[in-house]
Amino acid sequence: MKRVVAGVLSAAILAFGTQTMAAEDKALPDFKWSFDGIFGQFDRPALQRGFQVYREVCSACHSLRLIAFRDLADLGYDVEQIKAFAAEATVVDGPDDEGEMFEREGRPSDRIPSPFPNAKAAAAANGGSTPPDLSLMAKARPHGPSYIRALLSDGYEDAPAGFEILEGQSYNAYFPGNRIAMAPPLGDDAVEYQDGTEASVDRMAADVAHFLMWTAEPKLEQRKQTGIKVVLFLLVLTGILYAIKRKVWADLH
Ligand code: HEC
Repeated sequence: MKRVVAGVLSAAILAFGTQTMAAEDKALPDFKWSFDGIFGQFDRPALQRGFQVYREVCSACHSLRLIAFRDLADLGYDVEQIKAFAAEATVVDGPDDEGEMFEREGRPSDRIPSPFPNAKAAAAANGGSTPPDLSLMAKARPHGPSYIRALLSDGYEDAPAGFEILEGQSYNAYFPGNRIAMAPPLGDDAVEYQDGTEASVDRMAADVAHFLMWTAEPKLEQRKQTGIKVVLFLLVLTGILYAIKRKVWADLH
């Protein structure tokens, strides 16, 4: 019995190991991010640029269902700007008094919708693969932000000789299995940055990955700040308790 369990376990480990190896045939670059480390913070201008890339490019296929337009206030936008972003979206609402669903302009309280009415329609428009919701993508993949940046920039390359790519697929060095049903979405100057930053493919990929880290964990900064406060509190408490201990036991030495 033990042997069977051990056998199954090692087979599983082997299978899992080789699967990840196959997926990581090109090492993921070790990008540095402003939100790394215990003092990590988001970079507001990068978040705004990343949102611009999402809005002008990615939102043609991907939704952000866990983010409402009004959450974008965190990025430094004011109410009028947020109303304008929301108004660009078409949202299905209802039912109305006749029991019919209807379409209306988006409002700040709406979540960022998919451009497709449902997953089947999305798949039909994308050669059979549904563009996934991107809200939690930065958390759903190992080294999420770096993976997304690499996937969108230097991941797209010519397939090695003999590697078969079907119609509607592209070769991507970082995508598990290397066949991705998303054509390279970025080209140089795909957007014209409002802050004048040069819109190279790598800059846009980095900015949108930064933005997707925010969508996956909007409270990252608060979490880290609370952590620092807790550690400081514990240090002070340790000092106080040590002083009290010395005072209480002083006569017994
Ligand atoms: C024309 C439609 C289209 C556009 C535009 C597009 N994507 Fe995609 N994307 C897809 C499809 C389809 C898939 C599913 C690919 C697959 O499963 O093979 C996908 C998958 C992804 C994935 C998931 C990869 C994984 O590991 O599963 C990420 C991340 C992603 N896209 C990010 C983006 C970002 C960021 C942008 C904007 C810069 C963008 N996409 C623009 C269609 C699109």
